[in-house]
Amino acid sequence: MEEGAVPVSLKEWERVAAHTHITGLGLEGLKAKPVAAGMVGQIKAREAAGLVVHLVRKGKFAGRAVLLAGPPGTGKTALAIAIAKELGRDVPVVLLTASEIYSAEIKKTEFLTQALRRAIGVRIREMRRVYEGKVEELSIRQEPHPYNPYVKIPVGGTIKLATLDHSQKLSMDQAFAISLIREGVETGDVIQIDVDGGRVVKLGKSREAAEKEKVDLSSVQVVDVPSGPVLKNKEFVYTVTLHDLDLAHSRSSISFFGLLFGGEGRKEISAETRATVDETVKEWVEEGKAEILPGVVFIDECSMLDIETFAFLGRAMEQELAPIIIFATNRGLTVVRGTDFKAPHGMPLDLLDRLLIITTQPYTREEILEILKIRAKTEKINLSQEALEYLAQIGEANSLRYAIQLLAPASEVAIAEGAKIVEKKHVEHVRELFVDVSRSVQYLREHEERMLK
Ligand SMILES: Nc1ncnc2c1ncn2[C@@H]1O[C@H](COP(=O)(O)OP(=O)(O)OP(=O)(O)O)[C@@H](O)[C@H]1O
Ligand SMILES: [Mg+2]
Repeated sequence: MEEGAVPVSLKEWERVAAHTHITGLGLEGLKAKPVAAGMVGQIKAREAAGLVVHLVRKGKFAGRAVLLAGPPGTGKTALAIAIAKELGRDVPVVLLTASEIYSAEIKKTEFLTQALRRAIGVRIREMRRVYEGKVEELSIRQEPHPYNPYVKIPVGGTIKLATLDHSQKLSMDQAFAISLIREGVETGDVIQIDVDGGRVVKLGKSREAAEKEKVDLSSVQVVDVPSGPVLKNKEFVYTVTLHDLDLAHSRSSISFFGLLFGGEGRKEISAETRATVDETVKEWVEEGKAEILPGVVFIDECSMLDIETFAFLGRAMEQELAPIIIFATNRGLTVVRGTDFKAPHGMPLDLLDRLLIITTQPYTREEILEILKIRAKTEKINLSQEALEYLAQIGEANSLRYAIQLLAPASEVAIAEGAKIVEKKHVEHVRELFVDVSRSVQYLREHEERMLK
């Protein structure tokens, strides 16, 4: 890994941090429940997103694209995260922000090709070397974020696996620690780790742990602890992406050590490599050894993309192996980057014409209150009813995001005063300290002549 480069997994971690309360779309069949899975309101958009998930799962949506359009803070990114959760772990989802495409240290077409290929899964059935066993010990090291020391992030750790006959301790790197957290692996679970792919599959809870913890048997898979050695050869069903295969092919060999301790690296992959990989995958599919799972690429703030990028994506959508693309934007009529003409959402009309558009609507005070309640619970903040109602009022008058952002500082002020519950006065206090955009603009107007130009 290059000095100072933030690994992809870390960027993803940051992106989901504001949406940890969201566990899915909160649907029953194709109907949205008013409040469910951390989602509140936005009924039509959630039902539309549910249909998209449905089509993706049936493989009837490959090569198509969706646009989420709506004012800031109306849950577009939240919806994309919910879609990713609904699709489950086997369908690859790649989350991107338009600005990343331009800040990457590789050419933008290469960056995009990699993103598109990371979003196409290949489910393979194969004899592999796997670590398999019950998790006896799990210790994940958390350290302050390199650029934001106030946020803790997983950086690595150790895991001890045991079978009936044998046990073994393994150390892990950051990407692996994050994937363990993402899979929700805990002690007492039986898991498989694919040695050469560095992938984790949670098989279920061990019978012993299930009895001890009195888990709800209807929602948890209970399995036997395997016997034999921890490391063995086994038929392993796993999903890789076309990009994983490109990488594997372009390196002469990938070692477990490299994947667990080395960086992911961002290098260019040759067209021949990709052609060979595509050929191989087609053969596997014909022989019944593999199956293709088109996933999703989410591109947030898509109005920042330029005309060349849109053209590239338009062509990519027409190719044989194409993922679903979900764009999101809060821009209305605006200039298409790289041109001097305006278009809706800053997107070329021919592309717009091929999109399914889902709009998100501003929230009512009651919905804002519900969202704040859920968010406070996730951040473990106790609010008085009065404080909650006051915050909802701020959310309605200013913005939902501003109200959410006041939660943490208000809670700190309450703690400093020795209060157990955040009261309205604490919120009022931080509202004075941190202005929202409209008040900041007003301040700029009043003091314009004294600011640096
Ligand atoms: N319907 C909802 N239910 C629960 N939480 C929501 C909902 N809508 C938004 N949120 C939460 O409110 C915050 C702001 O929403 P989000 O970031 O998704 O807005 P956005 O539409 O992507 O805004 P922008 O245009 O500025 O990117 C996030 O923390 C998000 O998780
Ligand atoms: Mg957003």
